[in-house]
Amino acid sequence: TTKQLPKEKGIDHTLALLNEGYRFVLNRREKKDSDIVQTRLLGQKVILISGEDAAELFYDEDLFKRKNVAPKRVEKSLFGENGVQGLDDEEHKHRKLMFLSLMTPERLKDIEKITMKHWKAKLPDWKMKNQVVLFDEAEEVMCRSACEWAGVPIEEEMVEQRAQEFGFMIDAFGGVGERYQRGKKARQSSEKWIEGIIKQIRSKKLQPPENTAAYVIANHRDRKGKLLNTHTAAVELINILRPIVAIGRYVVFGALAMHDYPEETEKLRAGDGNYNRMFVQEIRRYYPFTPLLGANARKDFTWKGYPFKKNTLVMLDVYGINHHPDLWDRPNEFRPERFKEWEGSPFAFVPQGGGDHYMGHRCAGEWITIMLMQVSLEFLINHVEYEVPEQELEYSMERMPTIPKSRFIMNQIQSTA
Ligand code: HEM
Repeated sequence: TTKQLPKEKGIDHTLALLNEGYRFVLNRREKKDSDIVQTRLLGQKVILISGEDAAELFYDEDLFKRKNVAPKRVEKSLFGENGVQGLDDEEHKHRKLMFLSLMTPERLKDIEKITMKHWKAKLPDWKMKNQVVLFDEAEEVMCRSACEWAGVPIEEEMVEQRAQEFGFMIDAFGGVGERYQRGKKARQSSEKWIEGIIKQIRSKKLQPPENTAAYVIANHRDRKGKLLNTHTAAVELINILRPIVAIGRYVVFGALAMHDYPEETEKLRAGDGNYNRMFVQEIRRYYPFTPLLGANARKDFTWKGYPFKKNTLVMLDVYGINHHPDLWDRPNEFRPERFKEWEGSPFAFVPQGGGDHYMGHRCAGEWITIMLMQVSLEFLINHVEYEVPEQELEYSMERMPTIPKSRFIMNQIQSTA
């Protein structure tokens, strides 16, 4: 006996997704009073699922696969083609191990130091300016740090352009028209640059250290012992560089949180490293970044009595799970302390995906993200003083990805240490 899936009527709701953004699933969950709702997106049937059990289901590899899940437009802007995101089974695990092998404690320490260095190097220039836009500065600092850490040489006069290109790829995600075209062009330019780097490493014209992403990816062999083709290698190296630049968005949300929640910020200032970590976790939970993730059913099955048909696209409510009233006490309040007693669950807190990093598709850069957010907050707290002038600090819940409208302007900048 199977139950009837709660269904949203209508031919297609893609436009509603673009209009409602981060609240798309929530709105349907509330309307149907259900954590599972069937809708239609991009001309196909889609099952939306939310909650901790839903995340556990979504990461069951016997039931779901990722091949051909990302729409072409997302591959042409955000992800690139033939990257790790769309691989399954043994091929995925082998490629994933390549990414995870880069995340050793020593290499994490390296990027922490590199990033603090690039933040501090910004100070002389900031002090001379009337104001700076933190979003632009953060993307630039992250781009410099990413390239240095990954063994990718970058000429000084190209830094701004390259940082912007990575930013445009990220920004293209839920964009149509101009925003999408800008992301697609940025990817083309970036891939051309990084393909050149891969070729130079393979011909030994460029010799980055063996523990860098550039070296490891250029020399990575697939399960049959073959090098990745130049384009795929470039896509994967960009899969390291671009998301490090994306951390700049969380840094901006961190600065916004410090501005909006002075009491919490006092505790941060008091210098307890543990509070810094809780603050960072709460930023990743509270502020919207990844709205949804998709996977295709491998076969017919039932879950909680509901029928899932082979090849149906299932989307996990990432933003909604991080705010789910069954999982979080007062979910719409910014309260870092909630992470003090938090026992941890691979499926209740999923800003960068859920499950296991090695077995599934959970983000390979979660440790880097946490570390660079911590070091960036430490910089903003302990190394610089600034004013936050009148500006538009609201962020839209409709735009995906979102960011405060003014992108966080700072002025009266002084260094403190
Ligand atoms: C995958 C979010 C930073 C590398 C993912 C996924 C999400 C995500 C939602 C997909 C999980 C899934 O498909 O189940 C984020 C956010 C970041 C961030 C919000 C910070 C702003 C990073 C960093 C790196 C990175 C810093 C690398 C240095 C990757 C890779 C994957 C991935 C390689 C693909 C994993 C796979 O398919 O197996 N990320 N990420 N990410 N992320 Fe991140």
